[in-house]
Amino acid sequence: MRASQPWCFFCVITPGLEELALAEFLEKRALLGTTVDPIALPGGFEVTIPWEQGRALTAVLKIPTRVMVRLTTVTARDFPKLFQKASDLPWTQWLSHPEPLWKVSIHQCRLMHSGRVEETLIEAMKKAHVKKPFSNRWQKENLSPETLYVRGVDDVWTFSLDITGIALYKRGVSDIKGEAPLRETLAAACLRFLFKDAPSEPIHLWDPMCGSGTFLFEALGHQLPTEREFAYQTSVLNLGVAPWKPKTTLTPWPIEKCSGHDLNPALVNRLVEKSITWGVHDVIKAPQVPVSDGPLWIVSNPPYGERLALPEGIPEFSRKLSESLSNVPCEKVLLLVPASWPDFKIKDRKPQEILRFTHGGLAVEARLWKL
Ligand SMILES: C[S@@+](CC[C@H](N)C(=O)[O-])C[C@H]1O[C@@H](n2cnc3c(N)ncnc32)[C@H](O)[C@@H]1O
Repeated sequence: MRASQPWCFFCVITPGLEELALAEFLEKRALLGTTVDPIALPGGFEVTIPWEQGRALTAVLKIPTRVMVRLTTVTARDFPKLFQKASDLPWTQWLSHPEPLWKVSIHQCRLMHSGRVEETLIEAMKKAHVKKPFSNRWQKENLSPETLYVRGVDDVWTFSLDITGIALYKRGVSDIKGEAPLRETLAAACLRFLFKDAPSEPIHLWDPMCGSGTFLFEALGHQLPTEREFAYQTSVLNLGVAPWKPKTTLTPWPIEKCSGHDLNPALVNRLVEKSITWGVHDVIKAPQVPVSDGPLWIVSNPPYGERLALPEGIPEFSRKLSESLSNVPCEKVLLLVPASWPDFKIKDRKPQEILRFTHGGLAVEARLWKL
C-alpha cells in the first residue's frame, strides 16, 4: 500500500545545472514508469510520485547529487512549540534508526540557532520514542543512522529524509582516482551538454587528459541505472516493497569507441576497463590522436593549475592546448576549465556555447566548440 502512495521527492542539483537536470528527468522518467512533470525550485527540483518509483531517482538520474523525500512540515516560532510538534510526529513510520543525523538550515526564522533547534528535535524525538517505542530492527540488522534534513524558512520547518546515503557522484564504477578527479555528476551534466545535438553517426569519444577517465565512464553509463547501494534500501518506507526494476531501457548514446590518454602512466596503467582504449601521451608535445572511422568528439578537463600545477603558466598552457587540438580532425570539443582562464580559440573559432557552474567552489565553464 505504502509503495503506491505518492511522496514528494526533492533532487539536489549543483547551481547552473538545473536545466540539464530537468531535461534528464523528462527523458528518463519512462524508466520509472511515470509521466509526471517536475517542479523547478531553488537548489533542485521536486517531483511527486509513488514511493516505488521515486526511490529509483537515485539510480536513474546522473546529475543530482542527492535525493530526499519530504516527510512533513510544521510551523513553530518558539522552542516549546517546535518541541511539542516534533514530539507528536510519527517518527517510527518514517525512520529505521532512532537516532538520525541532523542537517539543520535556517532562513529568516524566529528560531535562529541551528544547534538549539537540533537539540530540541533530539529531545522531542526521545519523548516520541517513549510514547511509541522503536522496533529493534535497526539493532538486529545493524542499520546506520539515516540523515534528516530540517529546513526552516519563515518559521515553517520542512523535514526531509535522505534516501541516497553516500553522495550520488559516487557511482561505485571505478575506485581508481587521480589527484584532481571530476565529480561524476558534473561530468554527466557536461556530457548531456555535449550530446544535446545527437551526432549523425556513431562517434569516437576521446579524452586526451583523461585522469581517472570520469568522462568516459560516465558517457558509457549515462543511460544505464547506477548499480550500488542506496540508503532507501534499508528504509522503513521500503519494507516489503519489491526491489526496483526499470520499466524500459534507454538507447545508449551513439558512441562507437572511447579512448582516454593522460600524461601520467602510473594512473592510466591502472585503468583496466576493457571497453575503453587507454594510452599515455603528452597532448601538447605528441598527441596520440585515435584513428577513427566515425566523427571524433573530444571531451576533457585540463589541469586547472591549482591541485595540478602548470609550471609554464595558464596562458601559455592554454595557448599550446588550443594549438594542439586545432590540428586534430574532430567535429566537437568540450573543455571544462576555470572561468578565469583566458579566452582561446580552436581552429580559429571561439566556443559556440558555454555552460557555467561551480566545481569544488571554483567557477568553471564547459566551453563547447562545434567545428
Ligand atoms: C583535472 S585532471 C583530469 C581529471 C579527470 N577528468 C578525472 O576525472 O579524473 C587533468 C589531467 O590532465 C593530465 N595532464 C596534464 N598535462 C597533460 C598533458 N600535457 N598531456 C596529457 N595529459 C595531461 C594530468 O595528468 C591529469 O590527470
